[in-house]
Amino acid sequence: AMTLGSLAALRGKHFGAGIDVGQLGDVPYTTVLDREFTAVTPTDAMKWDATEPMRNQFNYTYGDRIVAYARQRDMTVQGHTLVWHSQVPAWVQSLDPTRLREAMIYHIDRLATHYRGAVRAWTVVNEPLDGTGGYRTSFFYQRLGASYIADAFRAARAADPGAKLYISESDAEGFGAKSTGLYNLVRSLLAEGVPVDGVAFQGHMAAGQVPGGVAQNFQRFADLGLDVVISELDVRVQQPRTAAKDAQQAADYTTMVRACLTVPRCAGVTLWTFSDKYSKIPYSFPSQGSATPWDVNIQPKPAYTAIYNTLLGG
Ligand code: G3I
Repeated sequence: AMTLGSLAALRGKHFGAGIDVGQLGDVPYTTVLDREFTAVTPTDAMKWDATEPMRNQFNYTYGDRIVAYARQRDMTVQGHTLVWHSQVPAWVQSLDPTRLREAMIYHIDRLATHYRGAVRAWTVVNEPLDGTGGYRTSFFYQRLGASYIADAFRAARAADPGAKLYISESDAEGFGAKSTGLYNLVRSLLAEGVPVDGVAFQGHMAAGQVPGGVAQNFQRFADLGLDVVISELDVRVQQPRTAAKDAQQAADYTTMVRACLTVPRCAGVTLWTFSDKYSKIPYSFPSQGSATPWDVNIQPKPAYTAIYNTLLGG
């Protein structure tokens, strides 16, 4: 029987799941993971707080487990994430600019070197913009200025010349101030020769609120010579779940997956996560949830069938 992964592969794309090590002993869950997905992204295992909790003391245990799991199953790994303002240990945030730049470059160098050959693509810089499309005033930006972005990409390329290097943003799927800010940023990075290979559109959606023009927006980035991916797709619904909301959610998943199919440079789609059992939406959006295509009992919802049919060509 065909699966989401095998159908996407026929279109030349990966179909991935965000996963964490604690989930890998859950047999009903891994049965679906192994059957349906051709790619994984560690949702937390490769972040700075997990990999370098103390300066110069690296811990690759969880990331290595995910890499080993994926390798045994011929899944690709999307590395996530080298530079982000969140889930960064306190010691990083207390550094002066000179030391912060050194620490950032060293962190990137160690991670990308350790996972050289194991990671298909890295989220090098995650969420650098604010809602207006200007630079987010993170501590990286405040202490290092915008040049931290170019520095991060150059360090990642030097450490792993074979990995695709992506910039990732939320809320940039449609046309608007943020996606235009992102477009202008990547265009100027490319003009300066910064090694950016692609843009990861996260795809955190609220049901019924998928913007129009997603494929056209993706295409303008592709026209710069970049890959695009949907890297963290979920579609949250106001609780409680109903049949009508399931149907809306299924339509929204269809819209997003179809956008990737429409754009030849779209390399794939990754779900964040694939089961409501592990989705953290209810923690970040109180009263919302049920955001994934499989329910808390790992049973498929209408969104699963919708994605399947979309990949099949419907
Ligand atoms: O690892 C600690 C553990 O030691 C501790 O006992 C436990 C107690 O709460 O927390 C654990 O850390 C949690 C971590 O997930 C691992 O489970 C954090 O509290 C929790 O905040 C963290 O949430 C992650 C979130 O990023 C943090 O911002 C989610 O799993 C992860 O899915 C989410 O992913 C982000 C992407 O990386 C970037 N884009 C947005 C997206 C959704 O927020």
